[in-house]
Amino acid sequence: MGVKRVVILGSTGSIGMNALKVIARFPDKFKVVGLTAYNNVDLLARQIKSFAPVFAAASPQNVAILKKRFGRSKTQICNVEEDVESLVCRADIDCVVIAMRGSAALKPFLSAVRAGKTIATANKEALVIAGDILISEAKRHHARIIPIDSEQSAIFQCLEGRGRSELKKVLLTASGGPLLNVPSSRFDRLSVRQVLAHPRWKMGQKITVDSATLMNKGFEVIEAQALFQLQMNQIEIVVHPEAIIHSMAEYTDGSVMAQLSITDMRLPIQYALTYPQRLESGLGPVNFFEIGKLTFQRPDLGKFPSLALAIHVGRRGGTLPSVLNAADEVVVDAFLNGRIRFSDIYRIVEKVVRRHKVAVRPTLEKILAADQWAREEAAGLIFR
Ligand SMILES: NC(=O)c1ccc[n+]([C@@H]2O[C@H](COP(=O)([O-])OP(=O)(O)OC[C@H]3O[C@@H](n4cnc5c(N)ncnc54)[C@H](OP(=O)(O)O)[C@@H]3O)[C@@H](O)[C@H]2O)c1
Repeated sequence: MGVKRVVILGSTGSIGMNALKVIARFPDKFKVVGLTAYNNVDLLARQIKSFAPVFAAASPQNVAILKKRFGRSKTQICNVEEDVESLVCRADIDCVVIAMRGSAALKPFLSAVRAGKTIATANKEALVIAGDILISEAKRHHARIIPIDSEQSAIFQCLEGRGRSELKKVLLTASGGPLLNVPSSRFDRLSVRQVLAHPRWKMGQKITVDSATLMNKGFEVIEAQALFQLQMNQIEIVVHPEAIIHSMAEYTDGSVMAQLSITDMRLPIQYALTYPQRLESGLGPVNFFEIGKLTFQRPDLGKFPSLALAIHVGRRGGTLPSVLNAADEVVVDAFLNGRIRFSDIYRIVEKVVRRHKVAVRPTLEKILAADQWAREEAAGLIFR
């Protein structure tokens, strides 16, 4: 493996910081060409000092602050909103790591795909809302998309080297999130802190709330459908609280391939960055004797209606996934800011989804218009 030249979009987030930890272990294998963040300029400044990228970008409000600090350094300071789509196409970049959250990742993702780059993506929102467009453009421009999300990485690994005609279905595992054993009668009284206490994964706040509603699992179903070109009835969700099996693939002969590892996002990040090579990670193996047993349950769609809603949305397709994603982004933000209760999340998102007139095989413009419509609709419902 020669030196891979990498840009990280969202370097100040949970995935972005872990990606930099992985890269720092292999200074002879990676060169950080670019870093982008949004608000967290202090952390971005420390990252610029450590990795000396060719460019760094932040939100328009933070560009001047960074220029003042790095005006005389070799790192060029850019505006993430205006410049990110062209920055990911630079000839000196081999791999674009998409570690930023939300649908804001869609445009740079599409741009990187059209430039034929290798894209290592943790971001699922772009694939949820415009998966068909991204996958067909990736085929057209010979871009490779490698998932970082642990479940999608597991499926990617379980499918490697096998003919698709032999695949029966994928088994997408779910830890069950922080509320697996909390009765739904208590959902109305849950504090933000309780909802953010994920038993297995340390992640950003938005995705942790989505793990509590199981909306995150619903997004992953839609993401897997797009990434691996699956029918909805080829995806089965298996609740597996130990989160050691990260997903599985069942083949026509009844054999099941599974990918197992400790719960540490640095593993799927490293695999996406070094693919197809596997390198020493410095992280421990699975200790089966300590774990003792692995358990499995069916998901409770009555207790977690957001999952059922996302499956319905995945089946309908068109502009509906964009509406689901945008409404959820607005509503989860309102929950995190103490404006609504936990149980309001589903109530409001479901209402927005129900009100939407679905456009089939939408263009990018229609997808973005549906996103905007859903944000306004959800915002209007929050105070009612
Ligand atoms: N965390 C996990 O373990 C995990 C696992 C699987 C998948 N994912 C997915 O990976 C993505 C990132 O998750 P995360 O947990 O790392 O999120 P996070 O900790 O909230 O970090 C998000 C990153 O995106 C940047 N950002 C936010 N809004 C932006 C905008 N409008 N334009 C450009 N950059 C923006 C943030 O910058 P500032 O902080 O500087 O504002 C930050 O660097 C999400 O799509 C999530 O679903 C995460």
